[in-house]
Amino acid sequence: MAIPESFLDDLMSRTDIVDLISSYVPLQKKGGRYWACCPFHSEKTPSFSVTPDKQMYYCFGCHKGGGAVSFVMEEEGVGFTDAVAILAKRAGIPMPEYNEDEGQRKRRERLLELNKAAARWFHANLSTPQAEPGRRYFARRGLSKRTITNFGLGYAFPEWDALLKAMQTKGYTKRELLDAGLAVSTDKGRIYDRFRGRVMFPIIDLRGNVIGFGGRVLDDTKPKYLNSPDTLIYNKSRNLFAMNIVKKSKAGQIILTEGYMDTIALHQAGFDCAVASLGTSLTEDHARLLAKYTKEIVLSYDSDEAGVAAAKRAIGILNRVGLNVKVLKVVGAKDPDEFLKQYGPSAFQRLLDQSENQAEYQLLQIQKKYDLTDDEQRVRFLQEAAQFVALMPSPVEREVYGSRAARAAGVESKVMSEEVERQRRQKSWRTRRQEERKALTPAANHQPDQRSFRYEHVRSALAEEGVIRLVLMDPSLFERLGSLKEEQFSAPVLQHIFQLLRQRWEEGLESTLDSLSARLAPEELSHLTRILQTPERQGSAEQALADYVSTIQSEYRKRTMSGDGDLLTLIRDKRSRNNT
Ligand code: UTP
Ligand code: MN
Repeated sequence: MAIPESFLDDLMSRTDIVDLISSYVPLQKKGGRYWACCPFHSEKTPSFSVTPDKQMYYCFGCHKGGGAVSFVMEEEGVGFTDAVAILAKRAGIPMPEYNEDEGQRKRRERLLELNKAAARWFHANLSTPQAEPGRRYFARRGLSKRTITNFGLGYAFPEWDALLKAMQTKGYTKRELLDAGLAVSTDKGRIYDRFRGRVMFPIIDLRGNVIGFGGRVLDDTKPKYLNSPDTLIYNKSRNLFAMNIVKKSKAGQIILTEGYMDTIALHQAGFDCAVASLGTSLTEDHARLLAKYTKEIVLSYDSDEAGVAAAKRAIGILNRVGLNVKVLKVVGAKDPDEFLKQYGPSAFQRLLDQSENQAEYQLLQIQKKYDLTDDEQRVRFLQEAAQFVALMPSPVEREVYGSRAARAAGVESKVMSEEVERQRRQKSWRTRRQEERKALTPAANHQPDQRSFRYEHVRSALAEEGVIRLVLMDPSLFERLGSLKEEQFSAPVLQHIFQLLRQRWEEGLESTLDSLSARLAPEELSHLTRILQTPERQGSAEQALADYVSTIQSEYRKRTMSGDGDLLTLIRDKRSRNNT
């Protein structure tokens, strides 16, 4: 293991989770716990809890949980080692010298330096005589000198190895250029520059590091844009173009666009809150990142069919993290960049002011599907619109949008509101049924929140959870497990956790949520934290353990002796018969 356990123990003894978390969100004490609105999902009433005596946090809403290290990992979006480094800095103790991960950190640092050097070089190229095509291109797109400098735009020469040569003279190796995604190699091992004869857009993270590039051709050849591949330092699903600038914006909203040029043109026109996702559709990580900086997103996607489809998809993702979404319709131009060029900034500001909230937008999308001059289609439109409106939580909204749909279809609002209420009654009846059914099968309540962890054998799994809870609280209980074996566990996730705990116990290591953060996936750690939320029943831990073990073993015997076992013998029998 890269970071010595002794260091981690020391660090954790100096880290108080309540102290740590309250520097991110205000905590309120209630009973033995502290509560807050969860920093990882959007909510209005607190379901995020911190338990000081276990140095653990857990959200009853989104089911994320863990210790100080995993909190920092999640909140800062960093890996285990970086999270430990952040905590060490906070506690004022120096990070230890260690090997493996130190190597990894050094490699990352080198790649960041290389990217910075490359960005500087691309940018400096712009003032050379050979960069005339690049300069002309930017001029044609109407970019000012200031914009070019602000975004650090640049130019890659058309030669096969101009960057390779320039960076090699600065001491970077071919290997490093490949690792940074700046060079590519052929099957035959020939290595050449990835970006050639393109104008260059550096991608800069929130801390100001250049982590990747986009490069655009100067004509109509394909592909129009080349982007850095994901590397040790770049992940396109987590980063947004211009987020480093937007995080300082005072606009109170963020304009989300589809393209580099859209974002740049908006900034140049004075809209300092525009970002773009990079050669990929919007992800949940993007949405979470945005939610850290704003409450409101204005979607300003292209006006073509693909843009509309992408906008619809994005609305769902953005809503899920609690963002308020407005949709801006670019009319009379293909995208925001072209719109600005044709109509200017004040016209764009008007679009922004008129931008519809998503409900209007979605209603309009529904309306577009139907020919409202046709009676039959009108009915179907009203039904679909009512279905949509029925989902709105506020009666005022239902009234407003219901009557809007009614007007569009040329019927009285009353007709529509009756349809909406009918659909609501039907729906609440259906959810009630579902809830009742769930209450009748209590097993469902014990299922993990993570789909892939679903328990196939709930009775055994609950006992397995119990064993894990007990040995975590008191590792000496490992000596009292008798003949319990890992393979008798029915749930793979619990088996994995148990295996790890046992292994650490055998090695004489203590297991805390923090030390486990390096070895368990975040979902596994969250699941473990949830297991620890269930109070262990009163009374003797040893007796409880004995009961759990006997349940696991008897369930295991049932499984192996019945069904599966029979089948196995059958198959074996058959095989041996076939062989003879
Ligand atoms: P668009 O095709 O809408 O281009 O792609 P654009 O942004 O309007 O670019 P200009 O105005 O023609 O210069 C939108 C985004 O999709 C990604 C880029 O991030 C681009 O900004 N993209 C597009 C690629 O990654 N590769 C491509 O070949 C094309
Ligand atoms: Mn464009």
